[in-house]
Amino acid sequence: MTTNIKPLNADRLIDPTRRNLLIGGSAVGLAGFLGGGIWMASAETLPPNNLLGFNGIAASTADDVVIVPGYRAEVLISWGEPLVEGAAAFDPHGNNSAADQEKQFGDNNDGMSFFPIDDRHGVMAINNEYVNEQYLFAHGGSKATSLEDVRKSQAAHGVSIVAVKRVGDSPRWELDRSSRYNRRITANTAMQLSGPAAGHPLLKTAADPSGHKVLGTFGNCANGKTPWGTYLTCEENFDTYFGTKQADYQTTAEQKRYTLKVHEPERNWSDYDERFDIAKHPHEFNRHGWIVEIDPMNPTSTPIKHTALGRFKHENAAVTVANDGRLVVYMGDDERGEYIYKYISKGKVDVSNPANNRSLLDEGQLYVAQFDADVNGIPLQGKGRWIALVFGENGLTPENGFHDVAEVLIFARKAATQVGATRMDRPEWIAVNPHDGRAYCTLTNNSKRGEEGMPLNAANPRPNNIYGQIIRWDEGGDATAVNFSWNMYALCGNPIAYPEGVNRGTPNITVANTFNSPDGLGFDKAGRLWILTDGKYSNKGDYVGQGNNQMLVGDPHSGEIRRFMVGPKSCELTGIAFTPDYKTLFVNVQHPGEEGDSHFPDNSPRPRSSVLMITREDGGVIGA
Ligand code: FEO
Ligand code: CA
Ligand code: CA
Repeated sequence: MTTNIKPLNADRLIDPTRRNLLIGGSAVGLAGFLGGGIWMASAETLPPNNLLGFNGIAASTADDVVIVPGYRAEVLISWGEPLVEGAAAFDPHGNNSAADQEKQFGDNNDGMSFFPIDDRHGVMAINNEYVNEQYLFAHGGSKATSLEDVRKSQAAHGVSIVAVKRVGDSPRWELDRSSRYNRRITANTAMQLSGPAAGHPLLKTAADPSGHKVLGTFGNCANGKTPWGTYLTCEENFDTYFGTKQADYQTTAEQKRYTLKVHEPERNWSDYDERFDIAKHPHEFNRHGWIVEIDPMNPTSTPIKHTALGRFKHENAAVTVANDGRLVVYMGDDERGEYIYKYISKGKVDVSNPANNRSLLDEGQLYVAQFDADVNGIPLQGKGRWIALVFGENGLTPENGFHDVAEVLIFARKAATQVGATRMDRPEWIAVNPHDGRAYCTLTNNSKRGEEGMPLNAANPRPNNIYGQIIRWDEGGDATAVNFSWNMYALCGNPIAYPEGVNRGTPNITVANTFNSPDGLGFDKAGRLWILTDGKYSNKGDYVGQGNNQMLVGDPHSGEIRRFMVGPKSCELTGIAFTPDYKTLFVNVQHPGEEGDSHFPDNSPRPRSSVLMITREDGGVIGA
C-alpha cells in the first residue's frame, strides 16, 4: 500500500548554517552553567561534517509526512490490516470484531526489529503499545463499554509478527500475507515467567498457582534484539490496565510505587475482565512490567517474561555484547524521577549455538545508575557508577522490606531507591554507538523537576524540564564496568522562544533543528544517531517553530543535529529498524490524530497508526 506522501518542496529547505557548537564532554568542552541560568559557549569550531549526507528540513505542521528531498516515505502496513489469508478487511468505521482484530495488525505500533531470512525475505516484530479507543470502537467513546470492547482492545495490543518480501530488486518491501511467520501476540497469549522471581508467591494467582504461566503482554513500548535472533518487547504503562469497583480497596505502597490508580483506571478492562480487578486478583499486577522474549522465527513458540531484568515501566532494551562475551542490556524506566538500569549476564554469548544462550537473560546481575557531578563543578558532565541490586546488600534486607532476591526484582523501583540511584527525567530509549560503545539515553522531559522531592542534580539540571535532554556515558570500552564518565549530548531547548538561558539548550540546538521531548533513539552502522520525538506539537509558546513530532539525525562527534522527517498531525514518531544493507529504514507513525485532527494515512474517517518504509530514490544508504 502506497500513500501520496510527497517530499518537501525545495523552497522549504533550510541549509543549516555552520556555527560554533559546544557539547559536553571531552571532544568539545561546554563551559559555564552559571547560577543565573545562562549557558555560555566555548569557541571551538565544528569539524567538517561528512556523516550527515543531507540538508536538514524545516519544521512542519501539515497532516502529512515530510521528508528530505530524494527520499520516499510510504506506508508498509497500518492498524487493522489483515495479517493472514482469509482475515477480515479493515473497517474504517470501527466495526471489526475482537475476533477480526486478532488476525489484523495491532494498534499504536512502537518499537520494532527487522529479522532477515534471506536477501528477499524478512520478518518484522512490531510492538502494538496501546489503543486509541475513540478510533478502535465503533461507538467512538474513550472507554470500553462491554466485554467485546475489552477483548477487541486486548487483541489490538501486544506484538505483530509480520513477514515481508522485497519488491523486485528495489529496496522497497511489502507484506507477505501468505507467510507462515505472520502471527499476533496479544494481551491474552499464553506466556511463561522465567528467572529468579518465577514461581514466587507474589506471582501466583488463582488461575496460575504455579507462578510460571501468565497471559499476555500489553503496554509494549520499545524493544531490543538479541545476538541469537530473538526479539525483546518491553512492558511499560501496565498499571493503566488494572482497577476495581470495590470502593474501599486500599492500594499497597508497592502498588502505588507503580502509580496504580484503582478507582480511575485509564482503560477499564477491570470492569469486564475479572483478571484485571486488582481487589480480586492482586498478584496479577505483579506479572506485568517485565521484558518479554519472543522467537519471531518460530510461530508456535511461547513468549518468555524474564524476571532477572527487573520489573518497572520498561522503555527499551539496548543489547550489546561486552569484550569478554557477556551480554549487557541497558534499560530505562519511563516515569518522572525513575532510574536507568543495566543487566549483565553470568554466561557468555554463543552465537554458534543459540540454545546455549537461553539462560543468559535468566542468570545475571541487575544494576542501577548513579550519576555524580563533576568534581571541578563543570556542568553537564561527571562520573557515575552502577550499583548492584543484590539481596542482602546495600540495605536490600528484610528490615527494609526485601525478603529474597525475587522481591528485589519484583519491586525493582523500591530497591533502586534503597541503594541511592539517581532520579532521572523520564528515561526513554537507550542506544549504544557501535563504534565506541558509548550509550546514549533520551530523558524526555520532567515537568516536576525542581519541585519538592525532585531536586535538580547534575544529570537533570533544569527545573520544569519541558524540553528534555540526551545524556551519554562512557565505560572505557568495557560494557561490564561499574564506573563510567558521562556528559550531555544535547540539552534540548527552543532558541526561537528563548534566545538565551537554560531553555535555549546547548548550542547544537538551533533555530533550524529545535525540538522537544526526544524519545526513540537508534544508531545505524555508520554511527549516525537517529532521534525521534514524542512531545508537544502545539507550535506555539514554548514550542513555537517546532511543528509536529519529528525524526532528526545527530553526529556523535561534532554534535550537529539535522531534521530528517516530520510526521502528520498529533502523532508521535517512534520505532526504528533498518534492513541489513541500511537501504531501507522503517519508522512508526503512532497515534496520528489523537487530537481528532488527522486523516493519515489514507483519508479514512479514522486515522491509523502505520509503519513507514523509507527509501532513497537512488537506492542508496539512508542518511549517507
Ligand atoms: Fe511508550 Fe516511554 O514511551
Ligand atoms: Ca517512548
Ligand atoms: Ca514519550
